[in-house]
Amino acid sequence: MARKITKAIFPVAGMGTRFLPATKSIPKEMMTLVDRPLVQYAIDEARAAGIKEFIFVTARGKSALEDYFDHAPELERALRKAGKDEQLELLKTTNIESGGIAYLRQHRAMGLGHAVWCARRLIADEPFAVMLPDDVISGDVPCLQQMVEAHEEVGGSMVATMDVPREMTGSYGILDVADASTDLVAARGMVEKPDPLSAPSTLAVIGRYILTPSVLKNLDAKKPGSGGEIQLTDAIAEEIREGRPVHGLRFTGQRFDCGSKAGFLQATVAFGLAREGLRDEFGAFLKQLTANAG
Ligand code: UTP
Repeated sequence: MARKITKAIFPVAGMGTRFLPATKSIPKEMMTLVDRPLVQYAIDEARAAGIKEFIFVTARGKSALEDYFDHAPELERALRKAGKDEQLELLKTTNIESGGIAYLRQHRAMGLGHAVWCARRLIADEPFAVMLPDDVISGDVPCLQQMVEAHEEVGGSMVATMDVPREMTGSYGILDVADASTDLVAARGMVEKPDPLSAPSTLAVIGRYILTPSVLKNLDAKKPGSGGEIQLTDAIAEEIREGRPVHGLRFTGQRFDCGSKAGFLQATVAFGLAREGLRDEFGAFLKQLTANAG
């Protein structure tokens, strides 16, 4: 049976240029979907999957993220005094047990692969998760939990995957598979951002991974790949070339690319409509808006 996954790396050192000027002073992961930052959704998903240690790879200008997971004694005192128990409970979801969270810096944005590699000394000889908080996934069973359950069966490395239109392959890492008919697919290759004409499939990799420590070893020697960045995809592809198993899990749920403006707005609408106490008013507004537009 595969080893238990208790550590997750959250690479949050990117510059978030698609959300400038907002991301000049707010980390992208602190942007708010309804009433909580993107990073809270990722933490909740990680906890549901049994993650106990949270490793953030950050960069300059991201201190708001670290503050978010701190206790806020004055605020807590004020809420207690005002009898606002519900809000106090909500605040608790932002606290992580002392020693359970680590921050380290990627000094230069050299790519996702490099960001993950920066955390290598905090990962011992054990499989670990990587979560990109700008991919927000809704669904009955959280995506990482689905992956952890599948990983218990097959071990090795695993990526979350979903079908995309062929013209979109240039925006994703794409799996090469012999048989794409099942939800759990064995990969025989992986390429970063292939041209639609040469893409080996239309199975795109999205921001959830379970990786074995050998991927970190592969990253030791990695040179910049597609876009001049050190690509995580290349290090995972090397696993496959060396004969170690890599699977793609077609997860159940809906993924929102909150790193793009359109995806972020779609997520805002979907999560707003799903939220008890907001649904009726917000839904009525949207109905009226679309009726007027039509
Ligand atoms: P993106 O490709 O979305 O890049 O990174 P970005 O910088 O965040 O955003 P744009 O494209 O400029 O708008 C995917 C994930 O990898 C992390 C990002 O923080 C994000 O979670 N990343 C990327 C790093 O941690 N370091 C890097 O050098 C690059």
